Amino acid sequence: MYPIARPYIKLSLFFSLFQFWKYFGNTSIIEFESIAKNVFDRTYAVAYSSGRVAIQKLFEAKQIVGQDVAIPSYTCIVVPYAVELSGNNPIFVEPSDRDFTVPISELSQHAGIVIQTHMFGEVQEFVSVPDNVFIIEDSCLAVGSSCNGYKAGTIGDVSVFSFNQSKQLGGIGGGVLLTDDKKLYEKLKSNQECKIGFINECKNILKLLLYWVYYKKWVYTLFKSFGLSKKNDDNFSLKDCTLSTDCSKGLSFIEMRVNTFLLKHKDVILKERKKIEKWYDLYLGEIKGVKRFVYSSEMALSHCWLILNKNRDIVRKKLYSEGINTGIANEYSCPTTPYYKDKYEPSLFKNTTHIGDSIINLPYYIGLKKTDVAHICAVFKRIYEEI
Ligand SMILES: Cc1ncc(COP(=O)(O)O)c(C=O)c1O
Repeated sequence: MYPIARPYIKLSLFFSLFQFWKYFGNTSIIEFESIAKNVFDRTYAVAYSSGRVAIQKLFEAKQIVGQDVAIPSYTCIVVPYAVELSGNNPIFVEPSDRDFTVPISELSQHAGIVIQTHMFGEVQEFVSVPDNVFIIEDSCLAVGSSCNGYKAGTIGDVSVFSFNQSKQLGGIGGGVLLTDDKKLYEKLKSNQECKIGFINECKNILKLLLYWVYYKKWVYTLFKSFGLSKKNDDNFSLKDCTLSTDCSKGLSFIEMRVNTFLLKHKDVILKERKKIEKWYDLYLGEIKGVKRFVYSSEMALSHCWLILNKNRDIVRKKLYSEGINTGIANEYSCPTTPYYKDKYEPSLFKNTTHIGDSIINLPYYIGLKKTDVAHICAVFKRIYEEI
């Protein structure tokens, strides 16, 4: 059984956890922030327990309340939730049917604060916007991507990256906010919640060990075959992410150590992911009724996504029965999710609804071999053509 995503956990990571002196003081946080700002080419970095918390804390530090914030309507639901939790109002802006992203020039027509999202790694062409527009660059899915030489994460007033399990630098969690603004950095640092405590750190070590074991192909297959884990445990569940959830949990030194490891291995990780992307290009080819945009070489894809004309849910079920788990990434349109559906007119978000209803994500993680990708593509093609 193939999972949809798998964190990058190597034996050498565990050795790096044994550097006990890094657990004293804030050494782990300082080391992570220092490597993050260098890797992402910014002046300052502030660590958080997730990307969503970084966004929420940003608004709090800047004392922004009651403001409209323009957000692409096709994005991860936790982004508008973070805006809501900070006391501001998300304004959804629909992408064109050509792709997933909304250009900054369009977002900035709707609000003075915008969240520019590089969905699935696609960075929009850089255009200058009025100085009074505050740009939060959501680069959570765009590690290593760029457009016309502008690297994801270097465009906005601030930018955010995530280290959750399904991201390019997928670990056990964590996020980082980057900026070149010294005053903002100092404010963010003074509000940073450090240390989650010994018990929670132990839970994180356990989580790391569990992930390491669980995602081994044979263990994963065993769990799925005997129903030992939820059938859809790889799917993002809207129920798990309610607005009332306070997801701020402080900083974990273990997460810091894992994410420092991931940043140090970024080039290897991206190279491996590019390899997988090429295999998908090779084996998927053109399939009638299936859309997958061909991106430039400047892109490092975060997911292998396809937009299907025919019934996505049946395809997913059949793939599952043949040992291929799919999903996880944004199978919904934000304005039509339970929390927002009464506040927004669905007919205004036709493209987003279409993407949310027809997208499928094939397994995409380091560890997949060329033969695995060939197999996944062959099964997918057969099933798709059969229905
Ligand atoms: C586009 C996008 N932005 C932000 C986030 C938030 O990241 P995190 O899970 O670290 O809060 C995610 C993923 O969850 C995402 O897909």
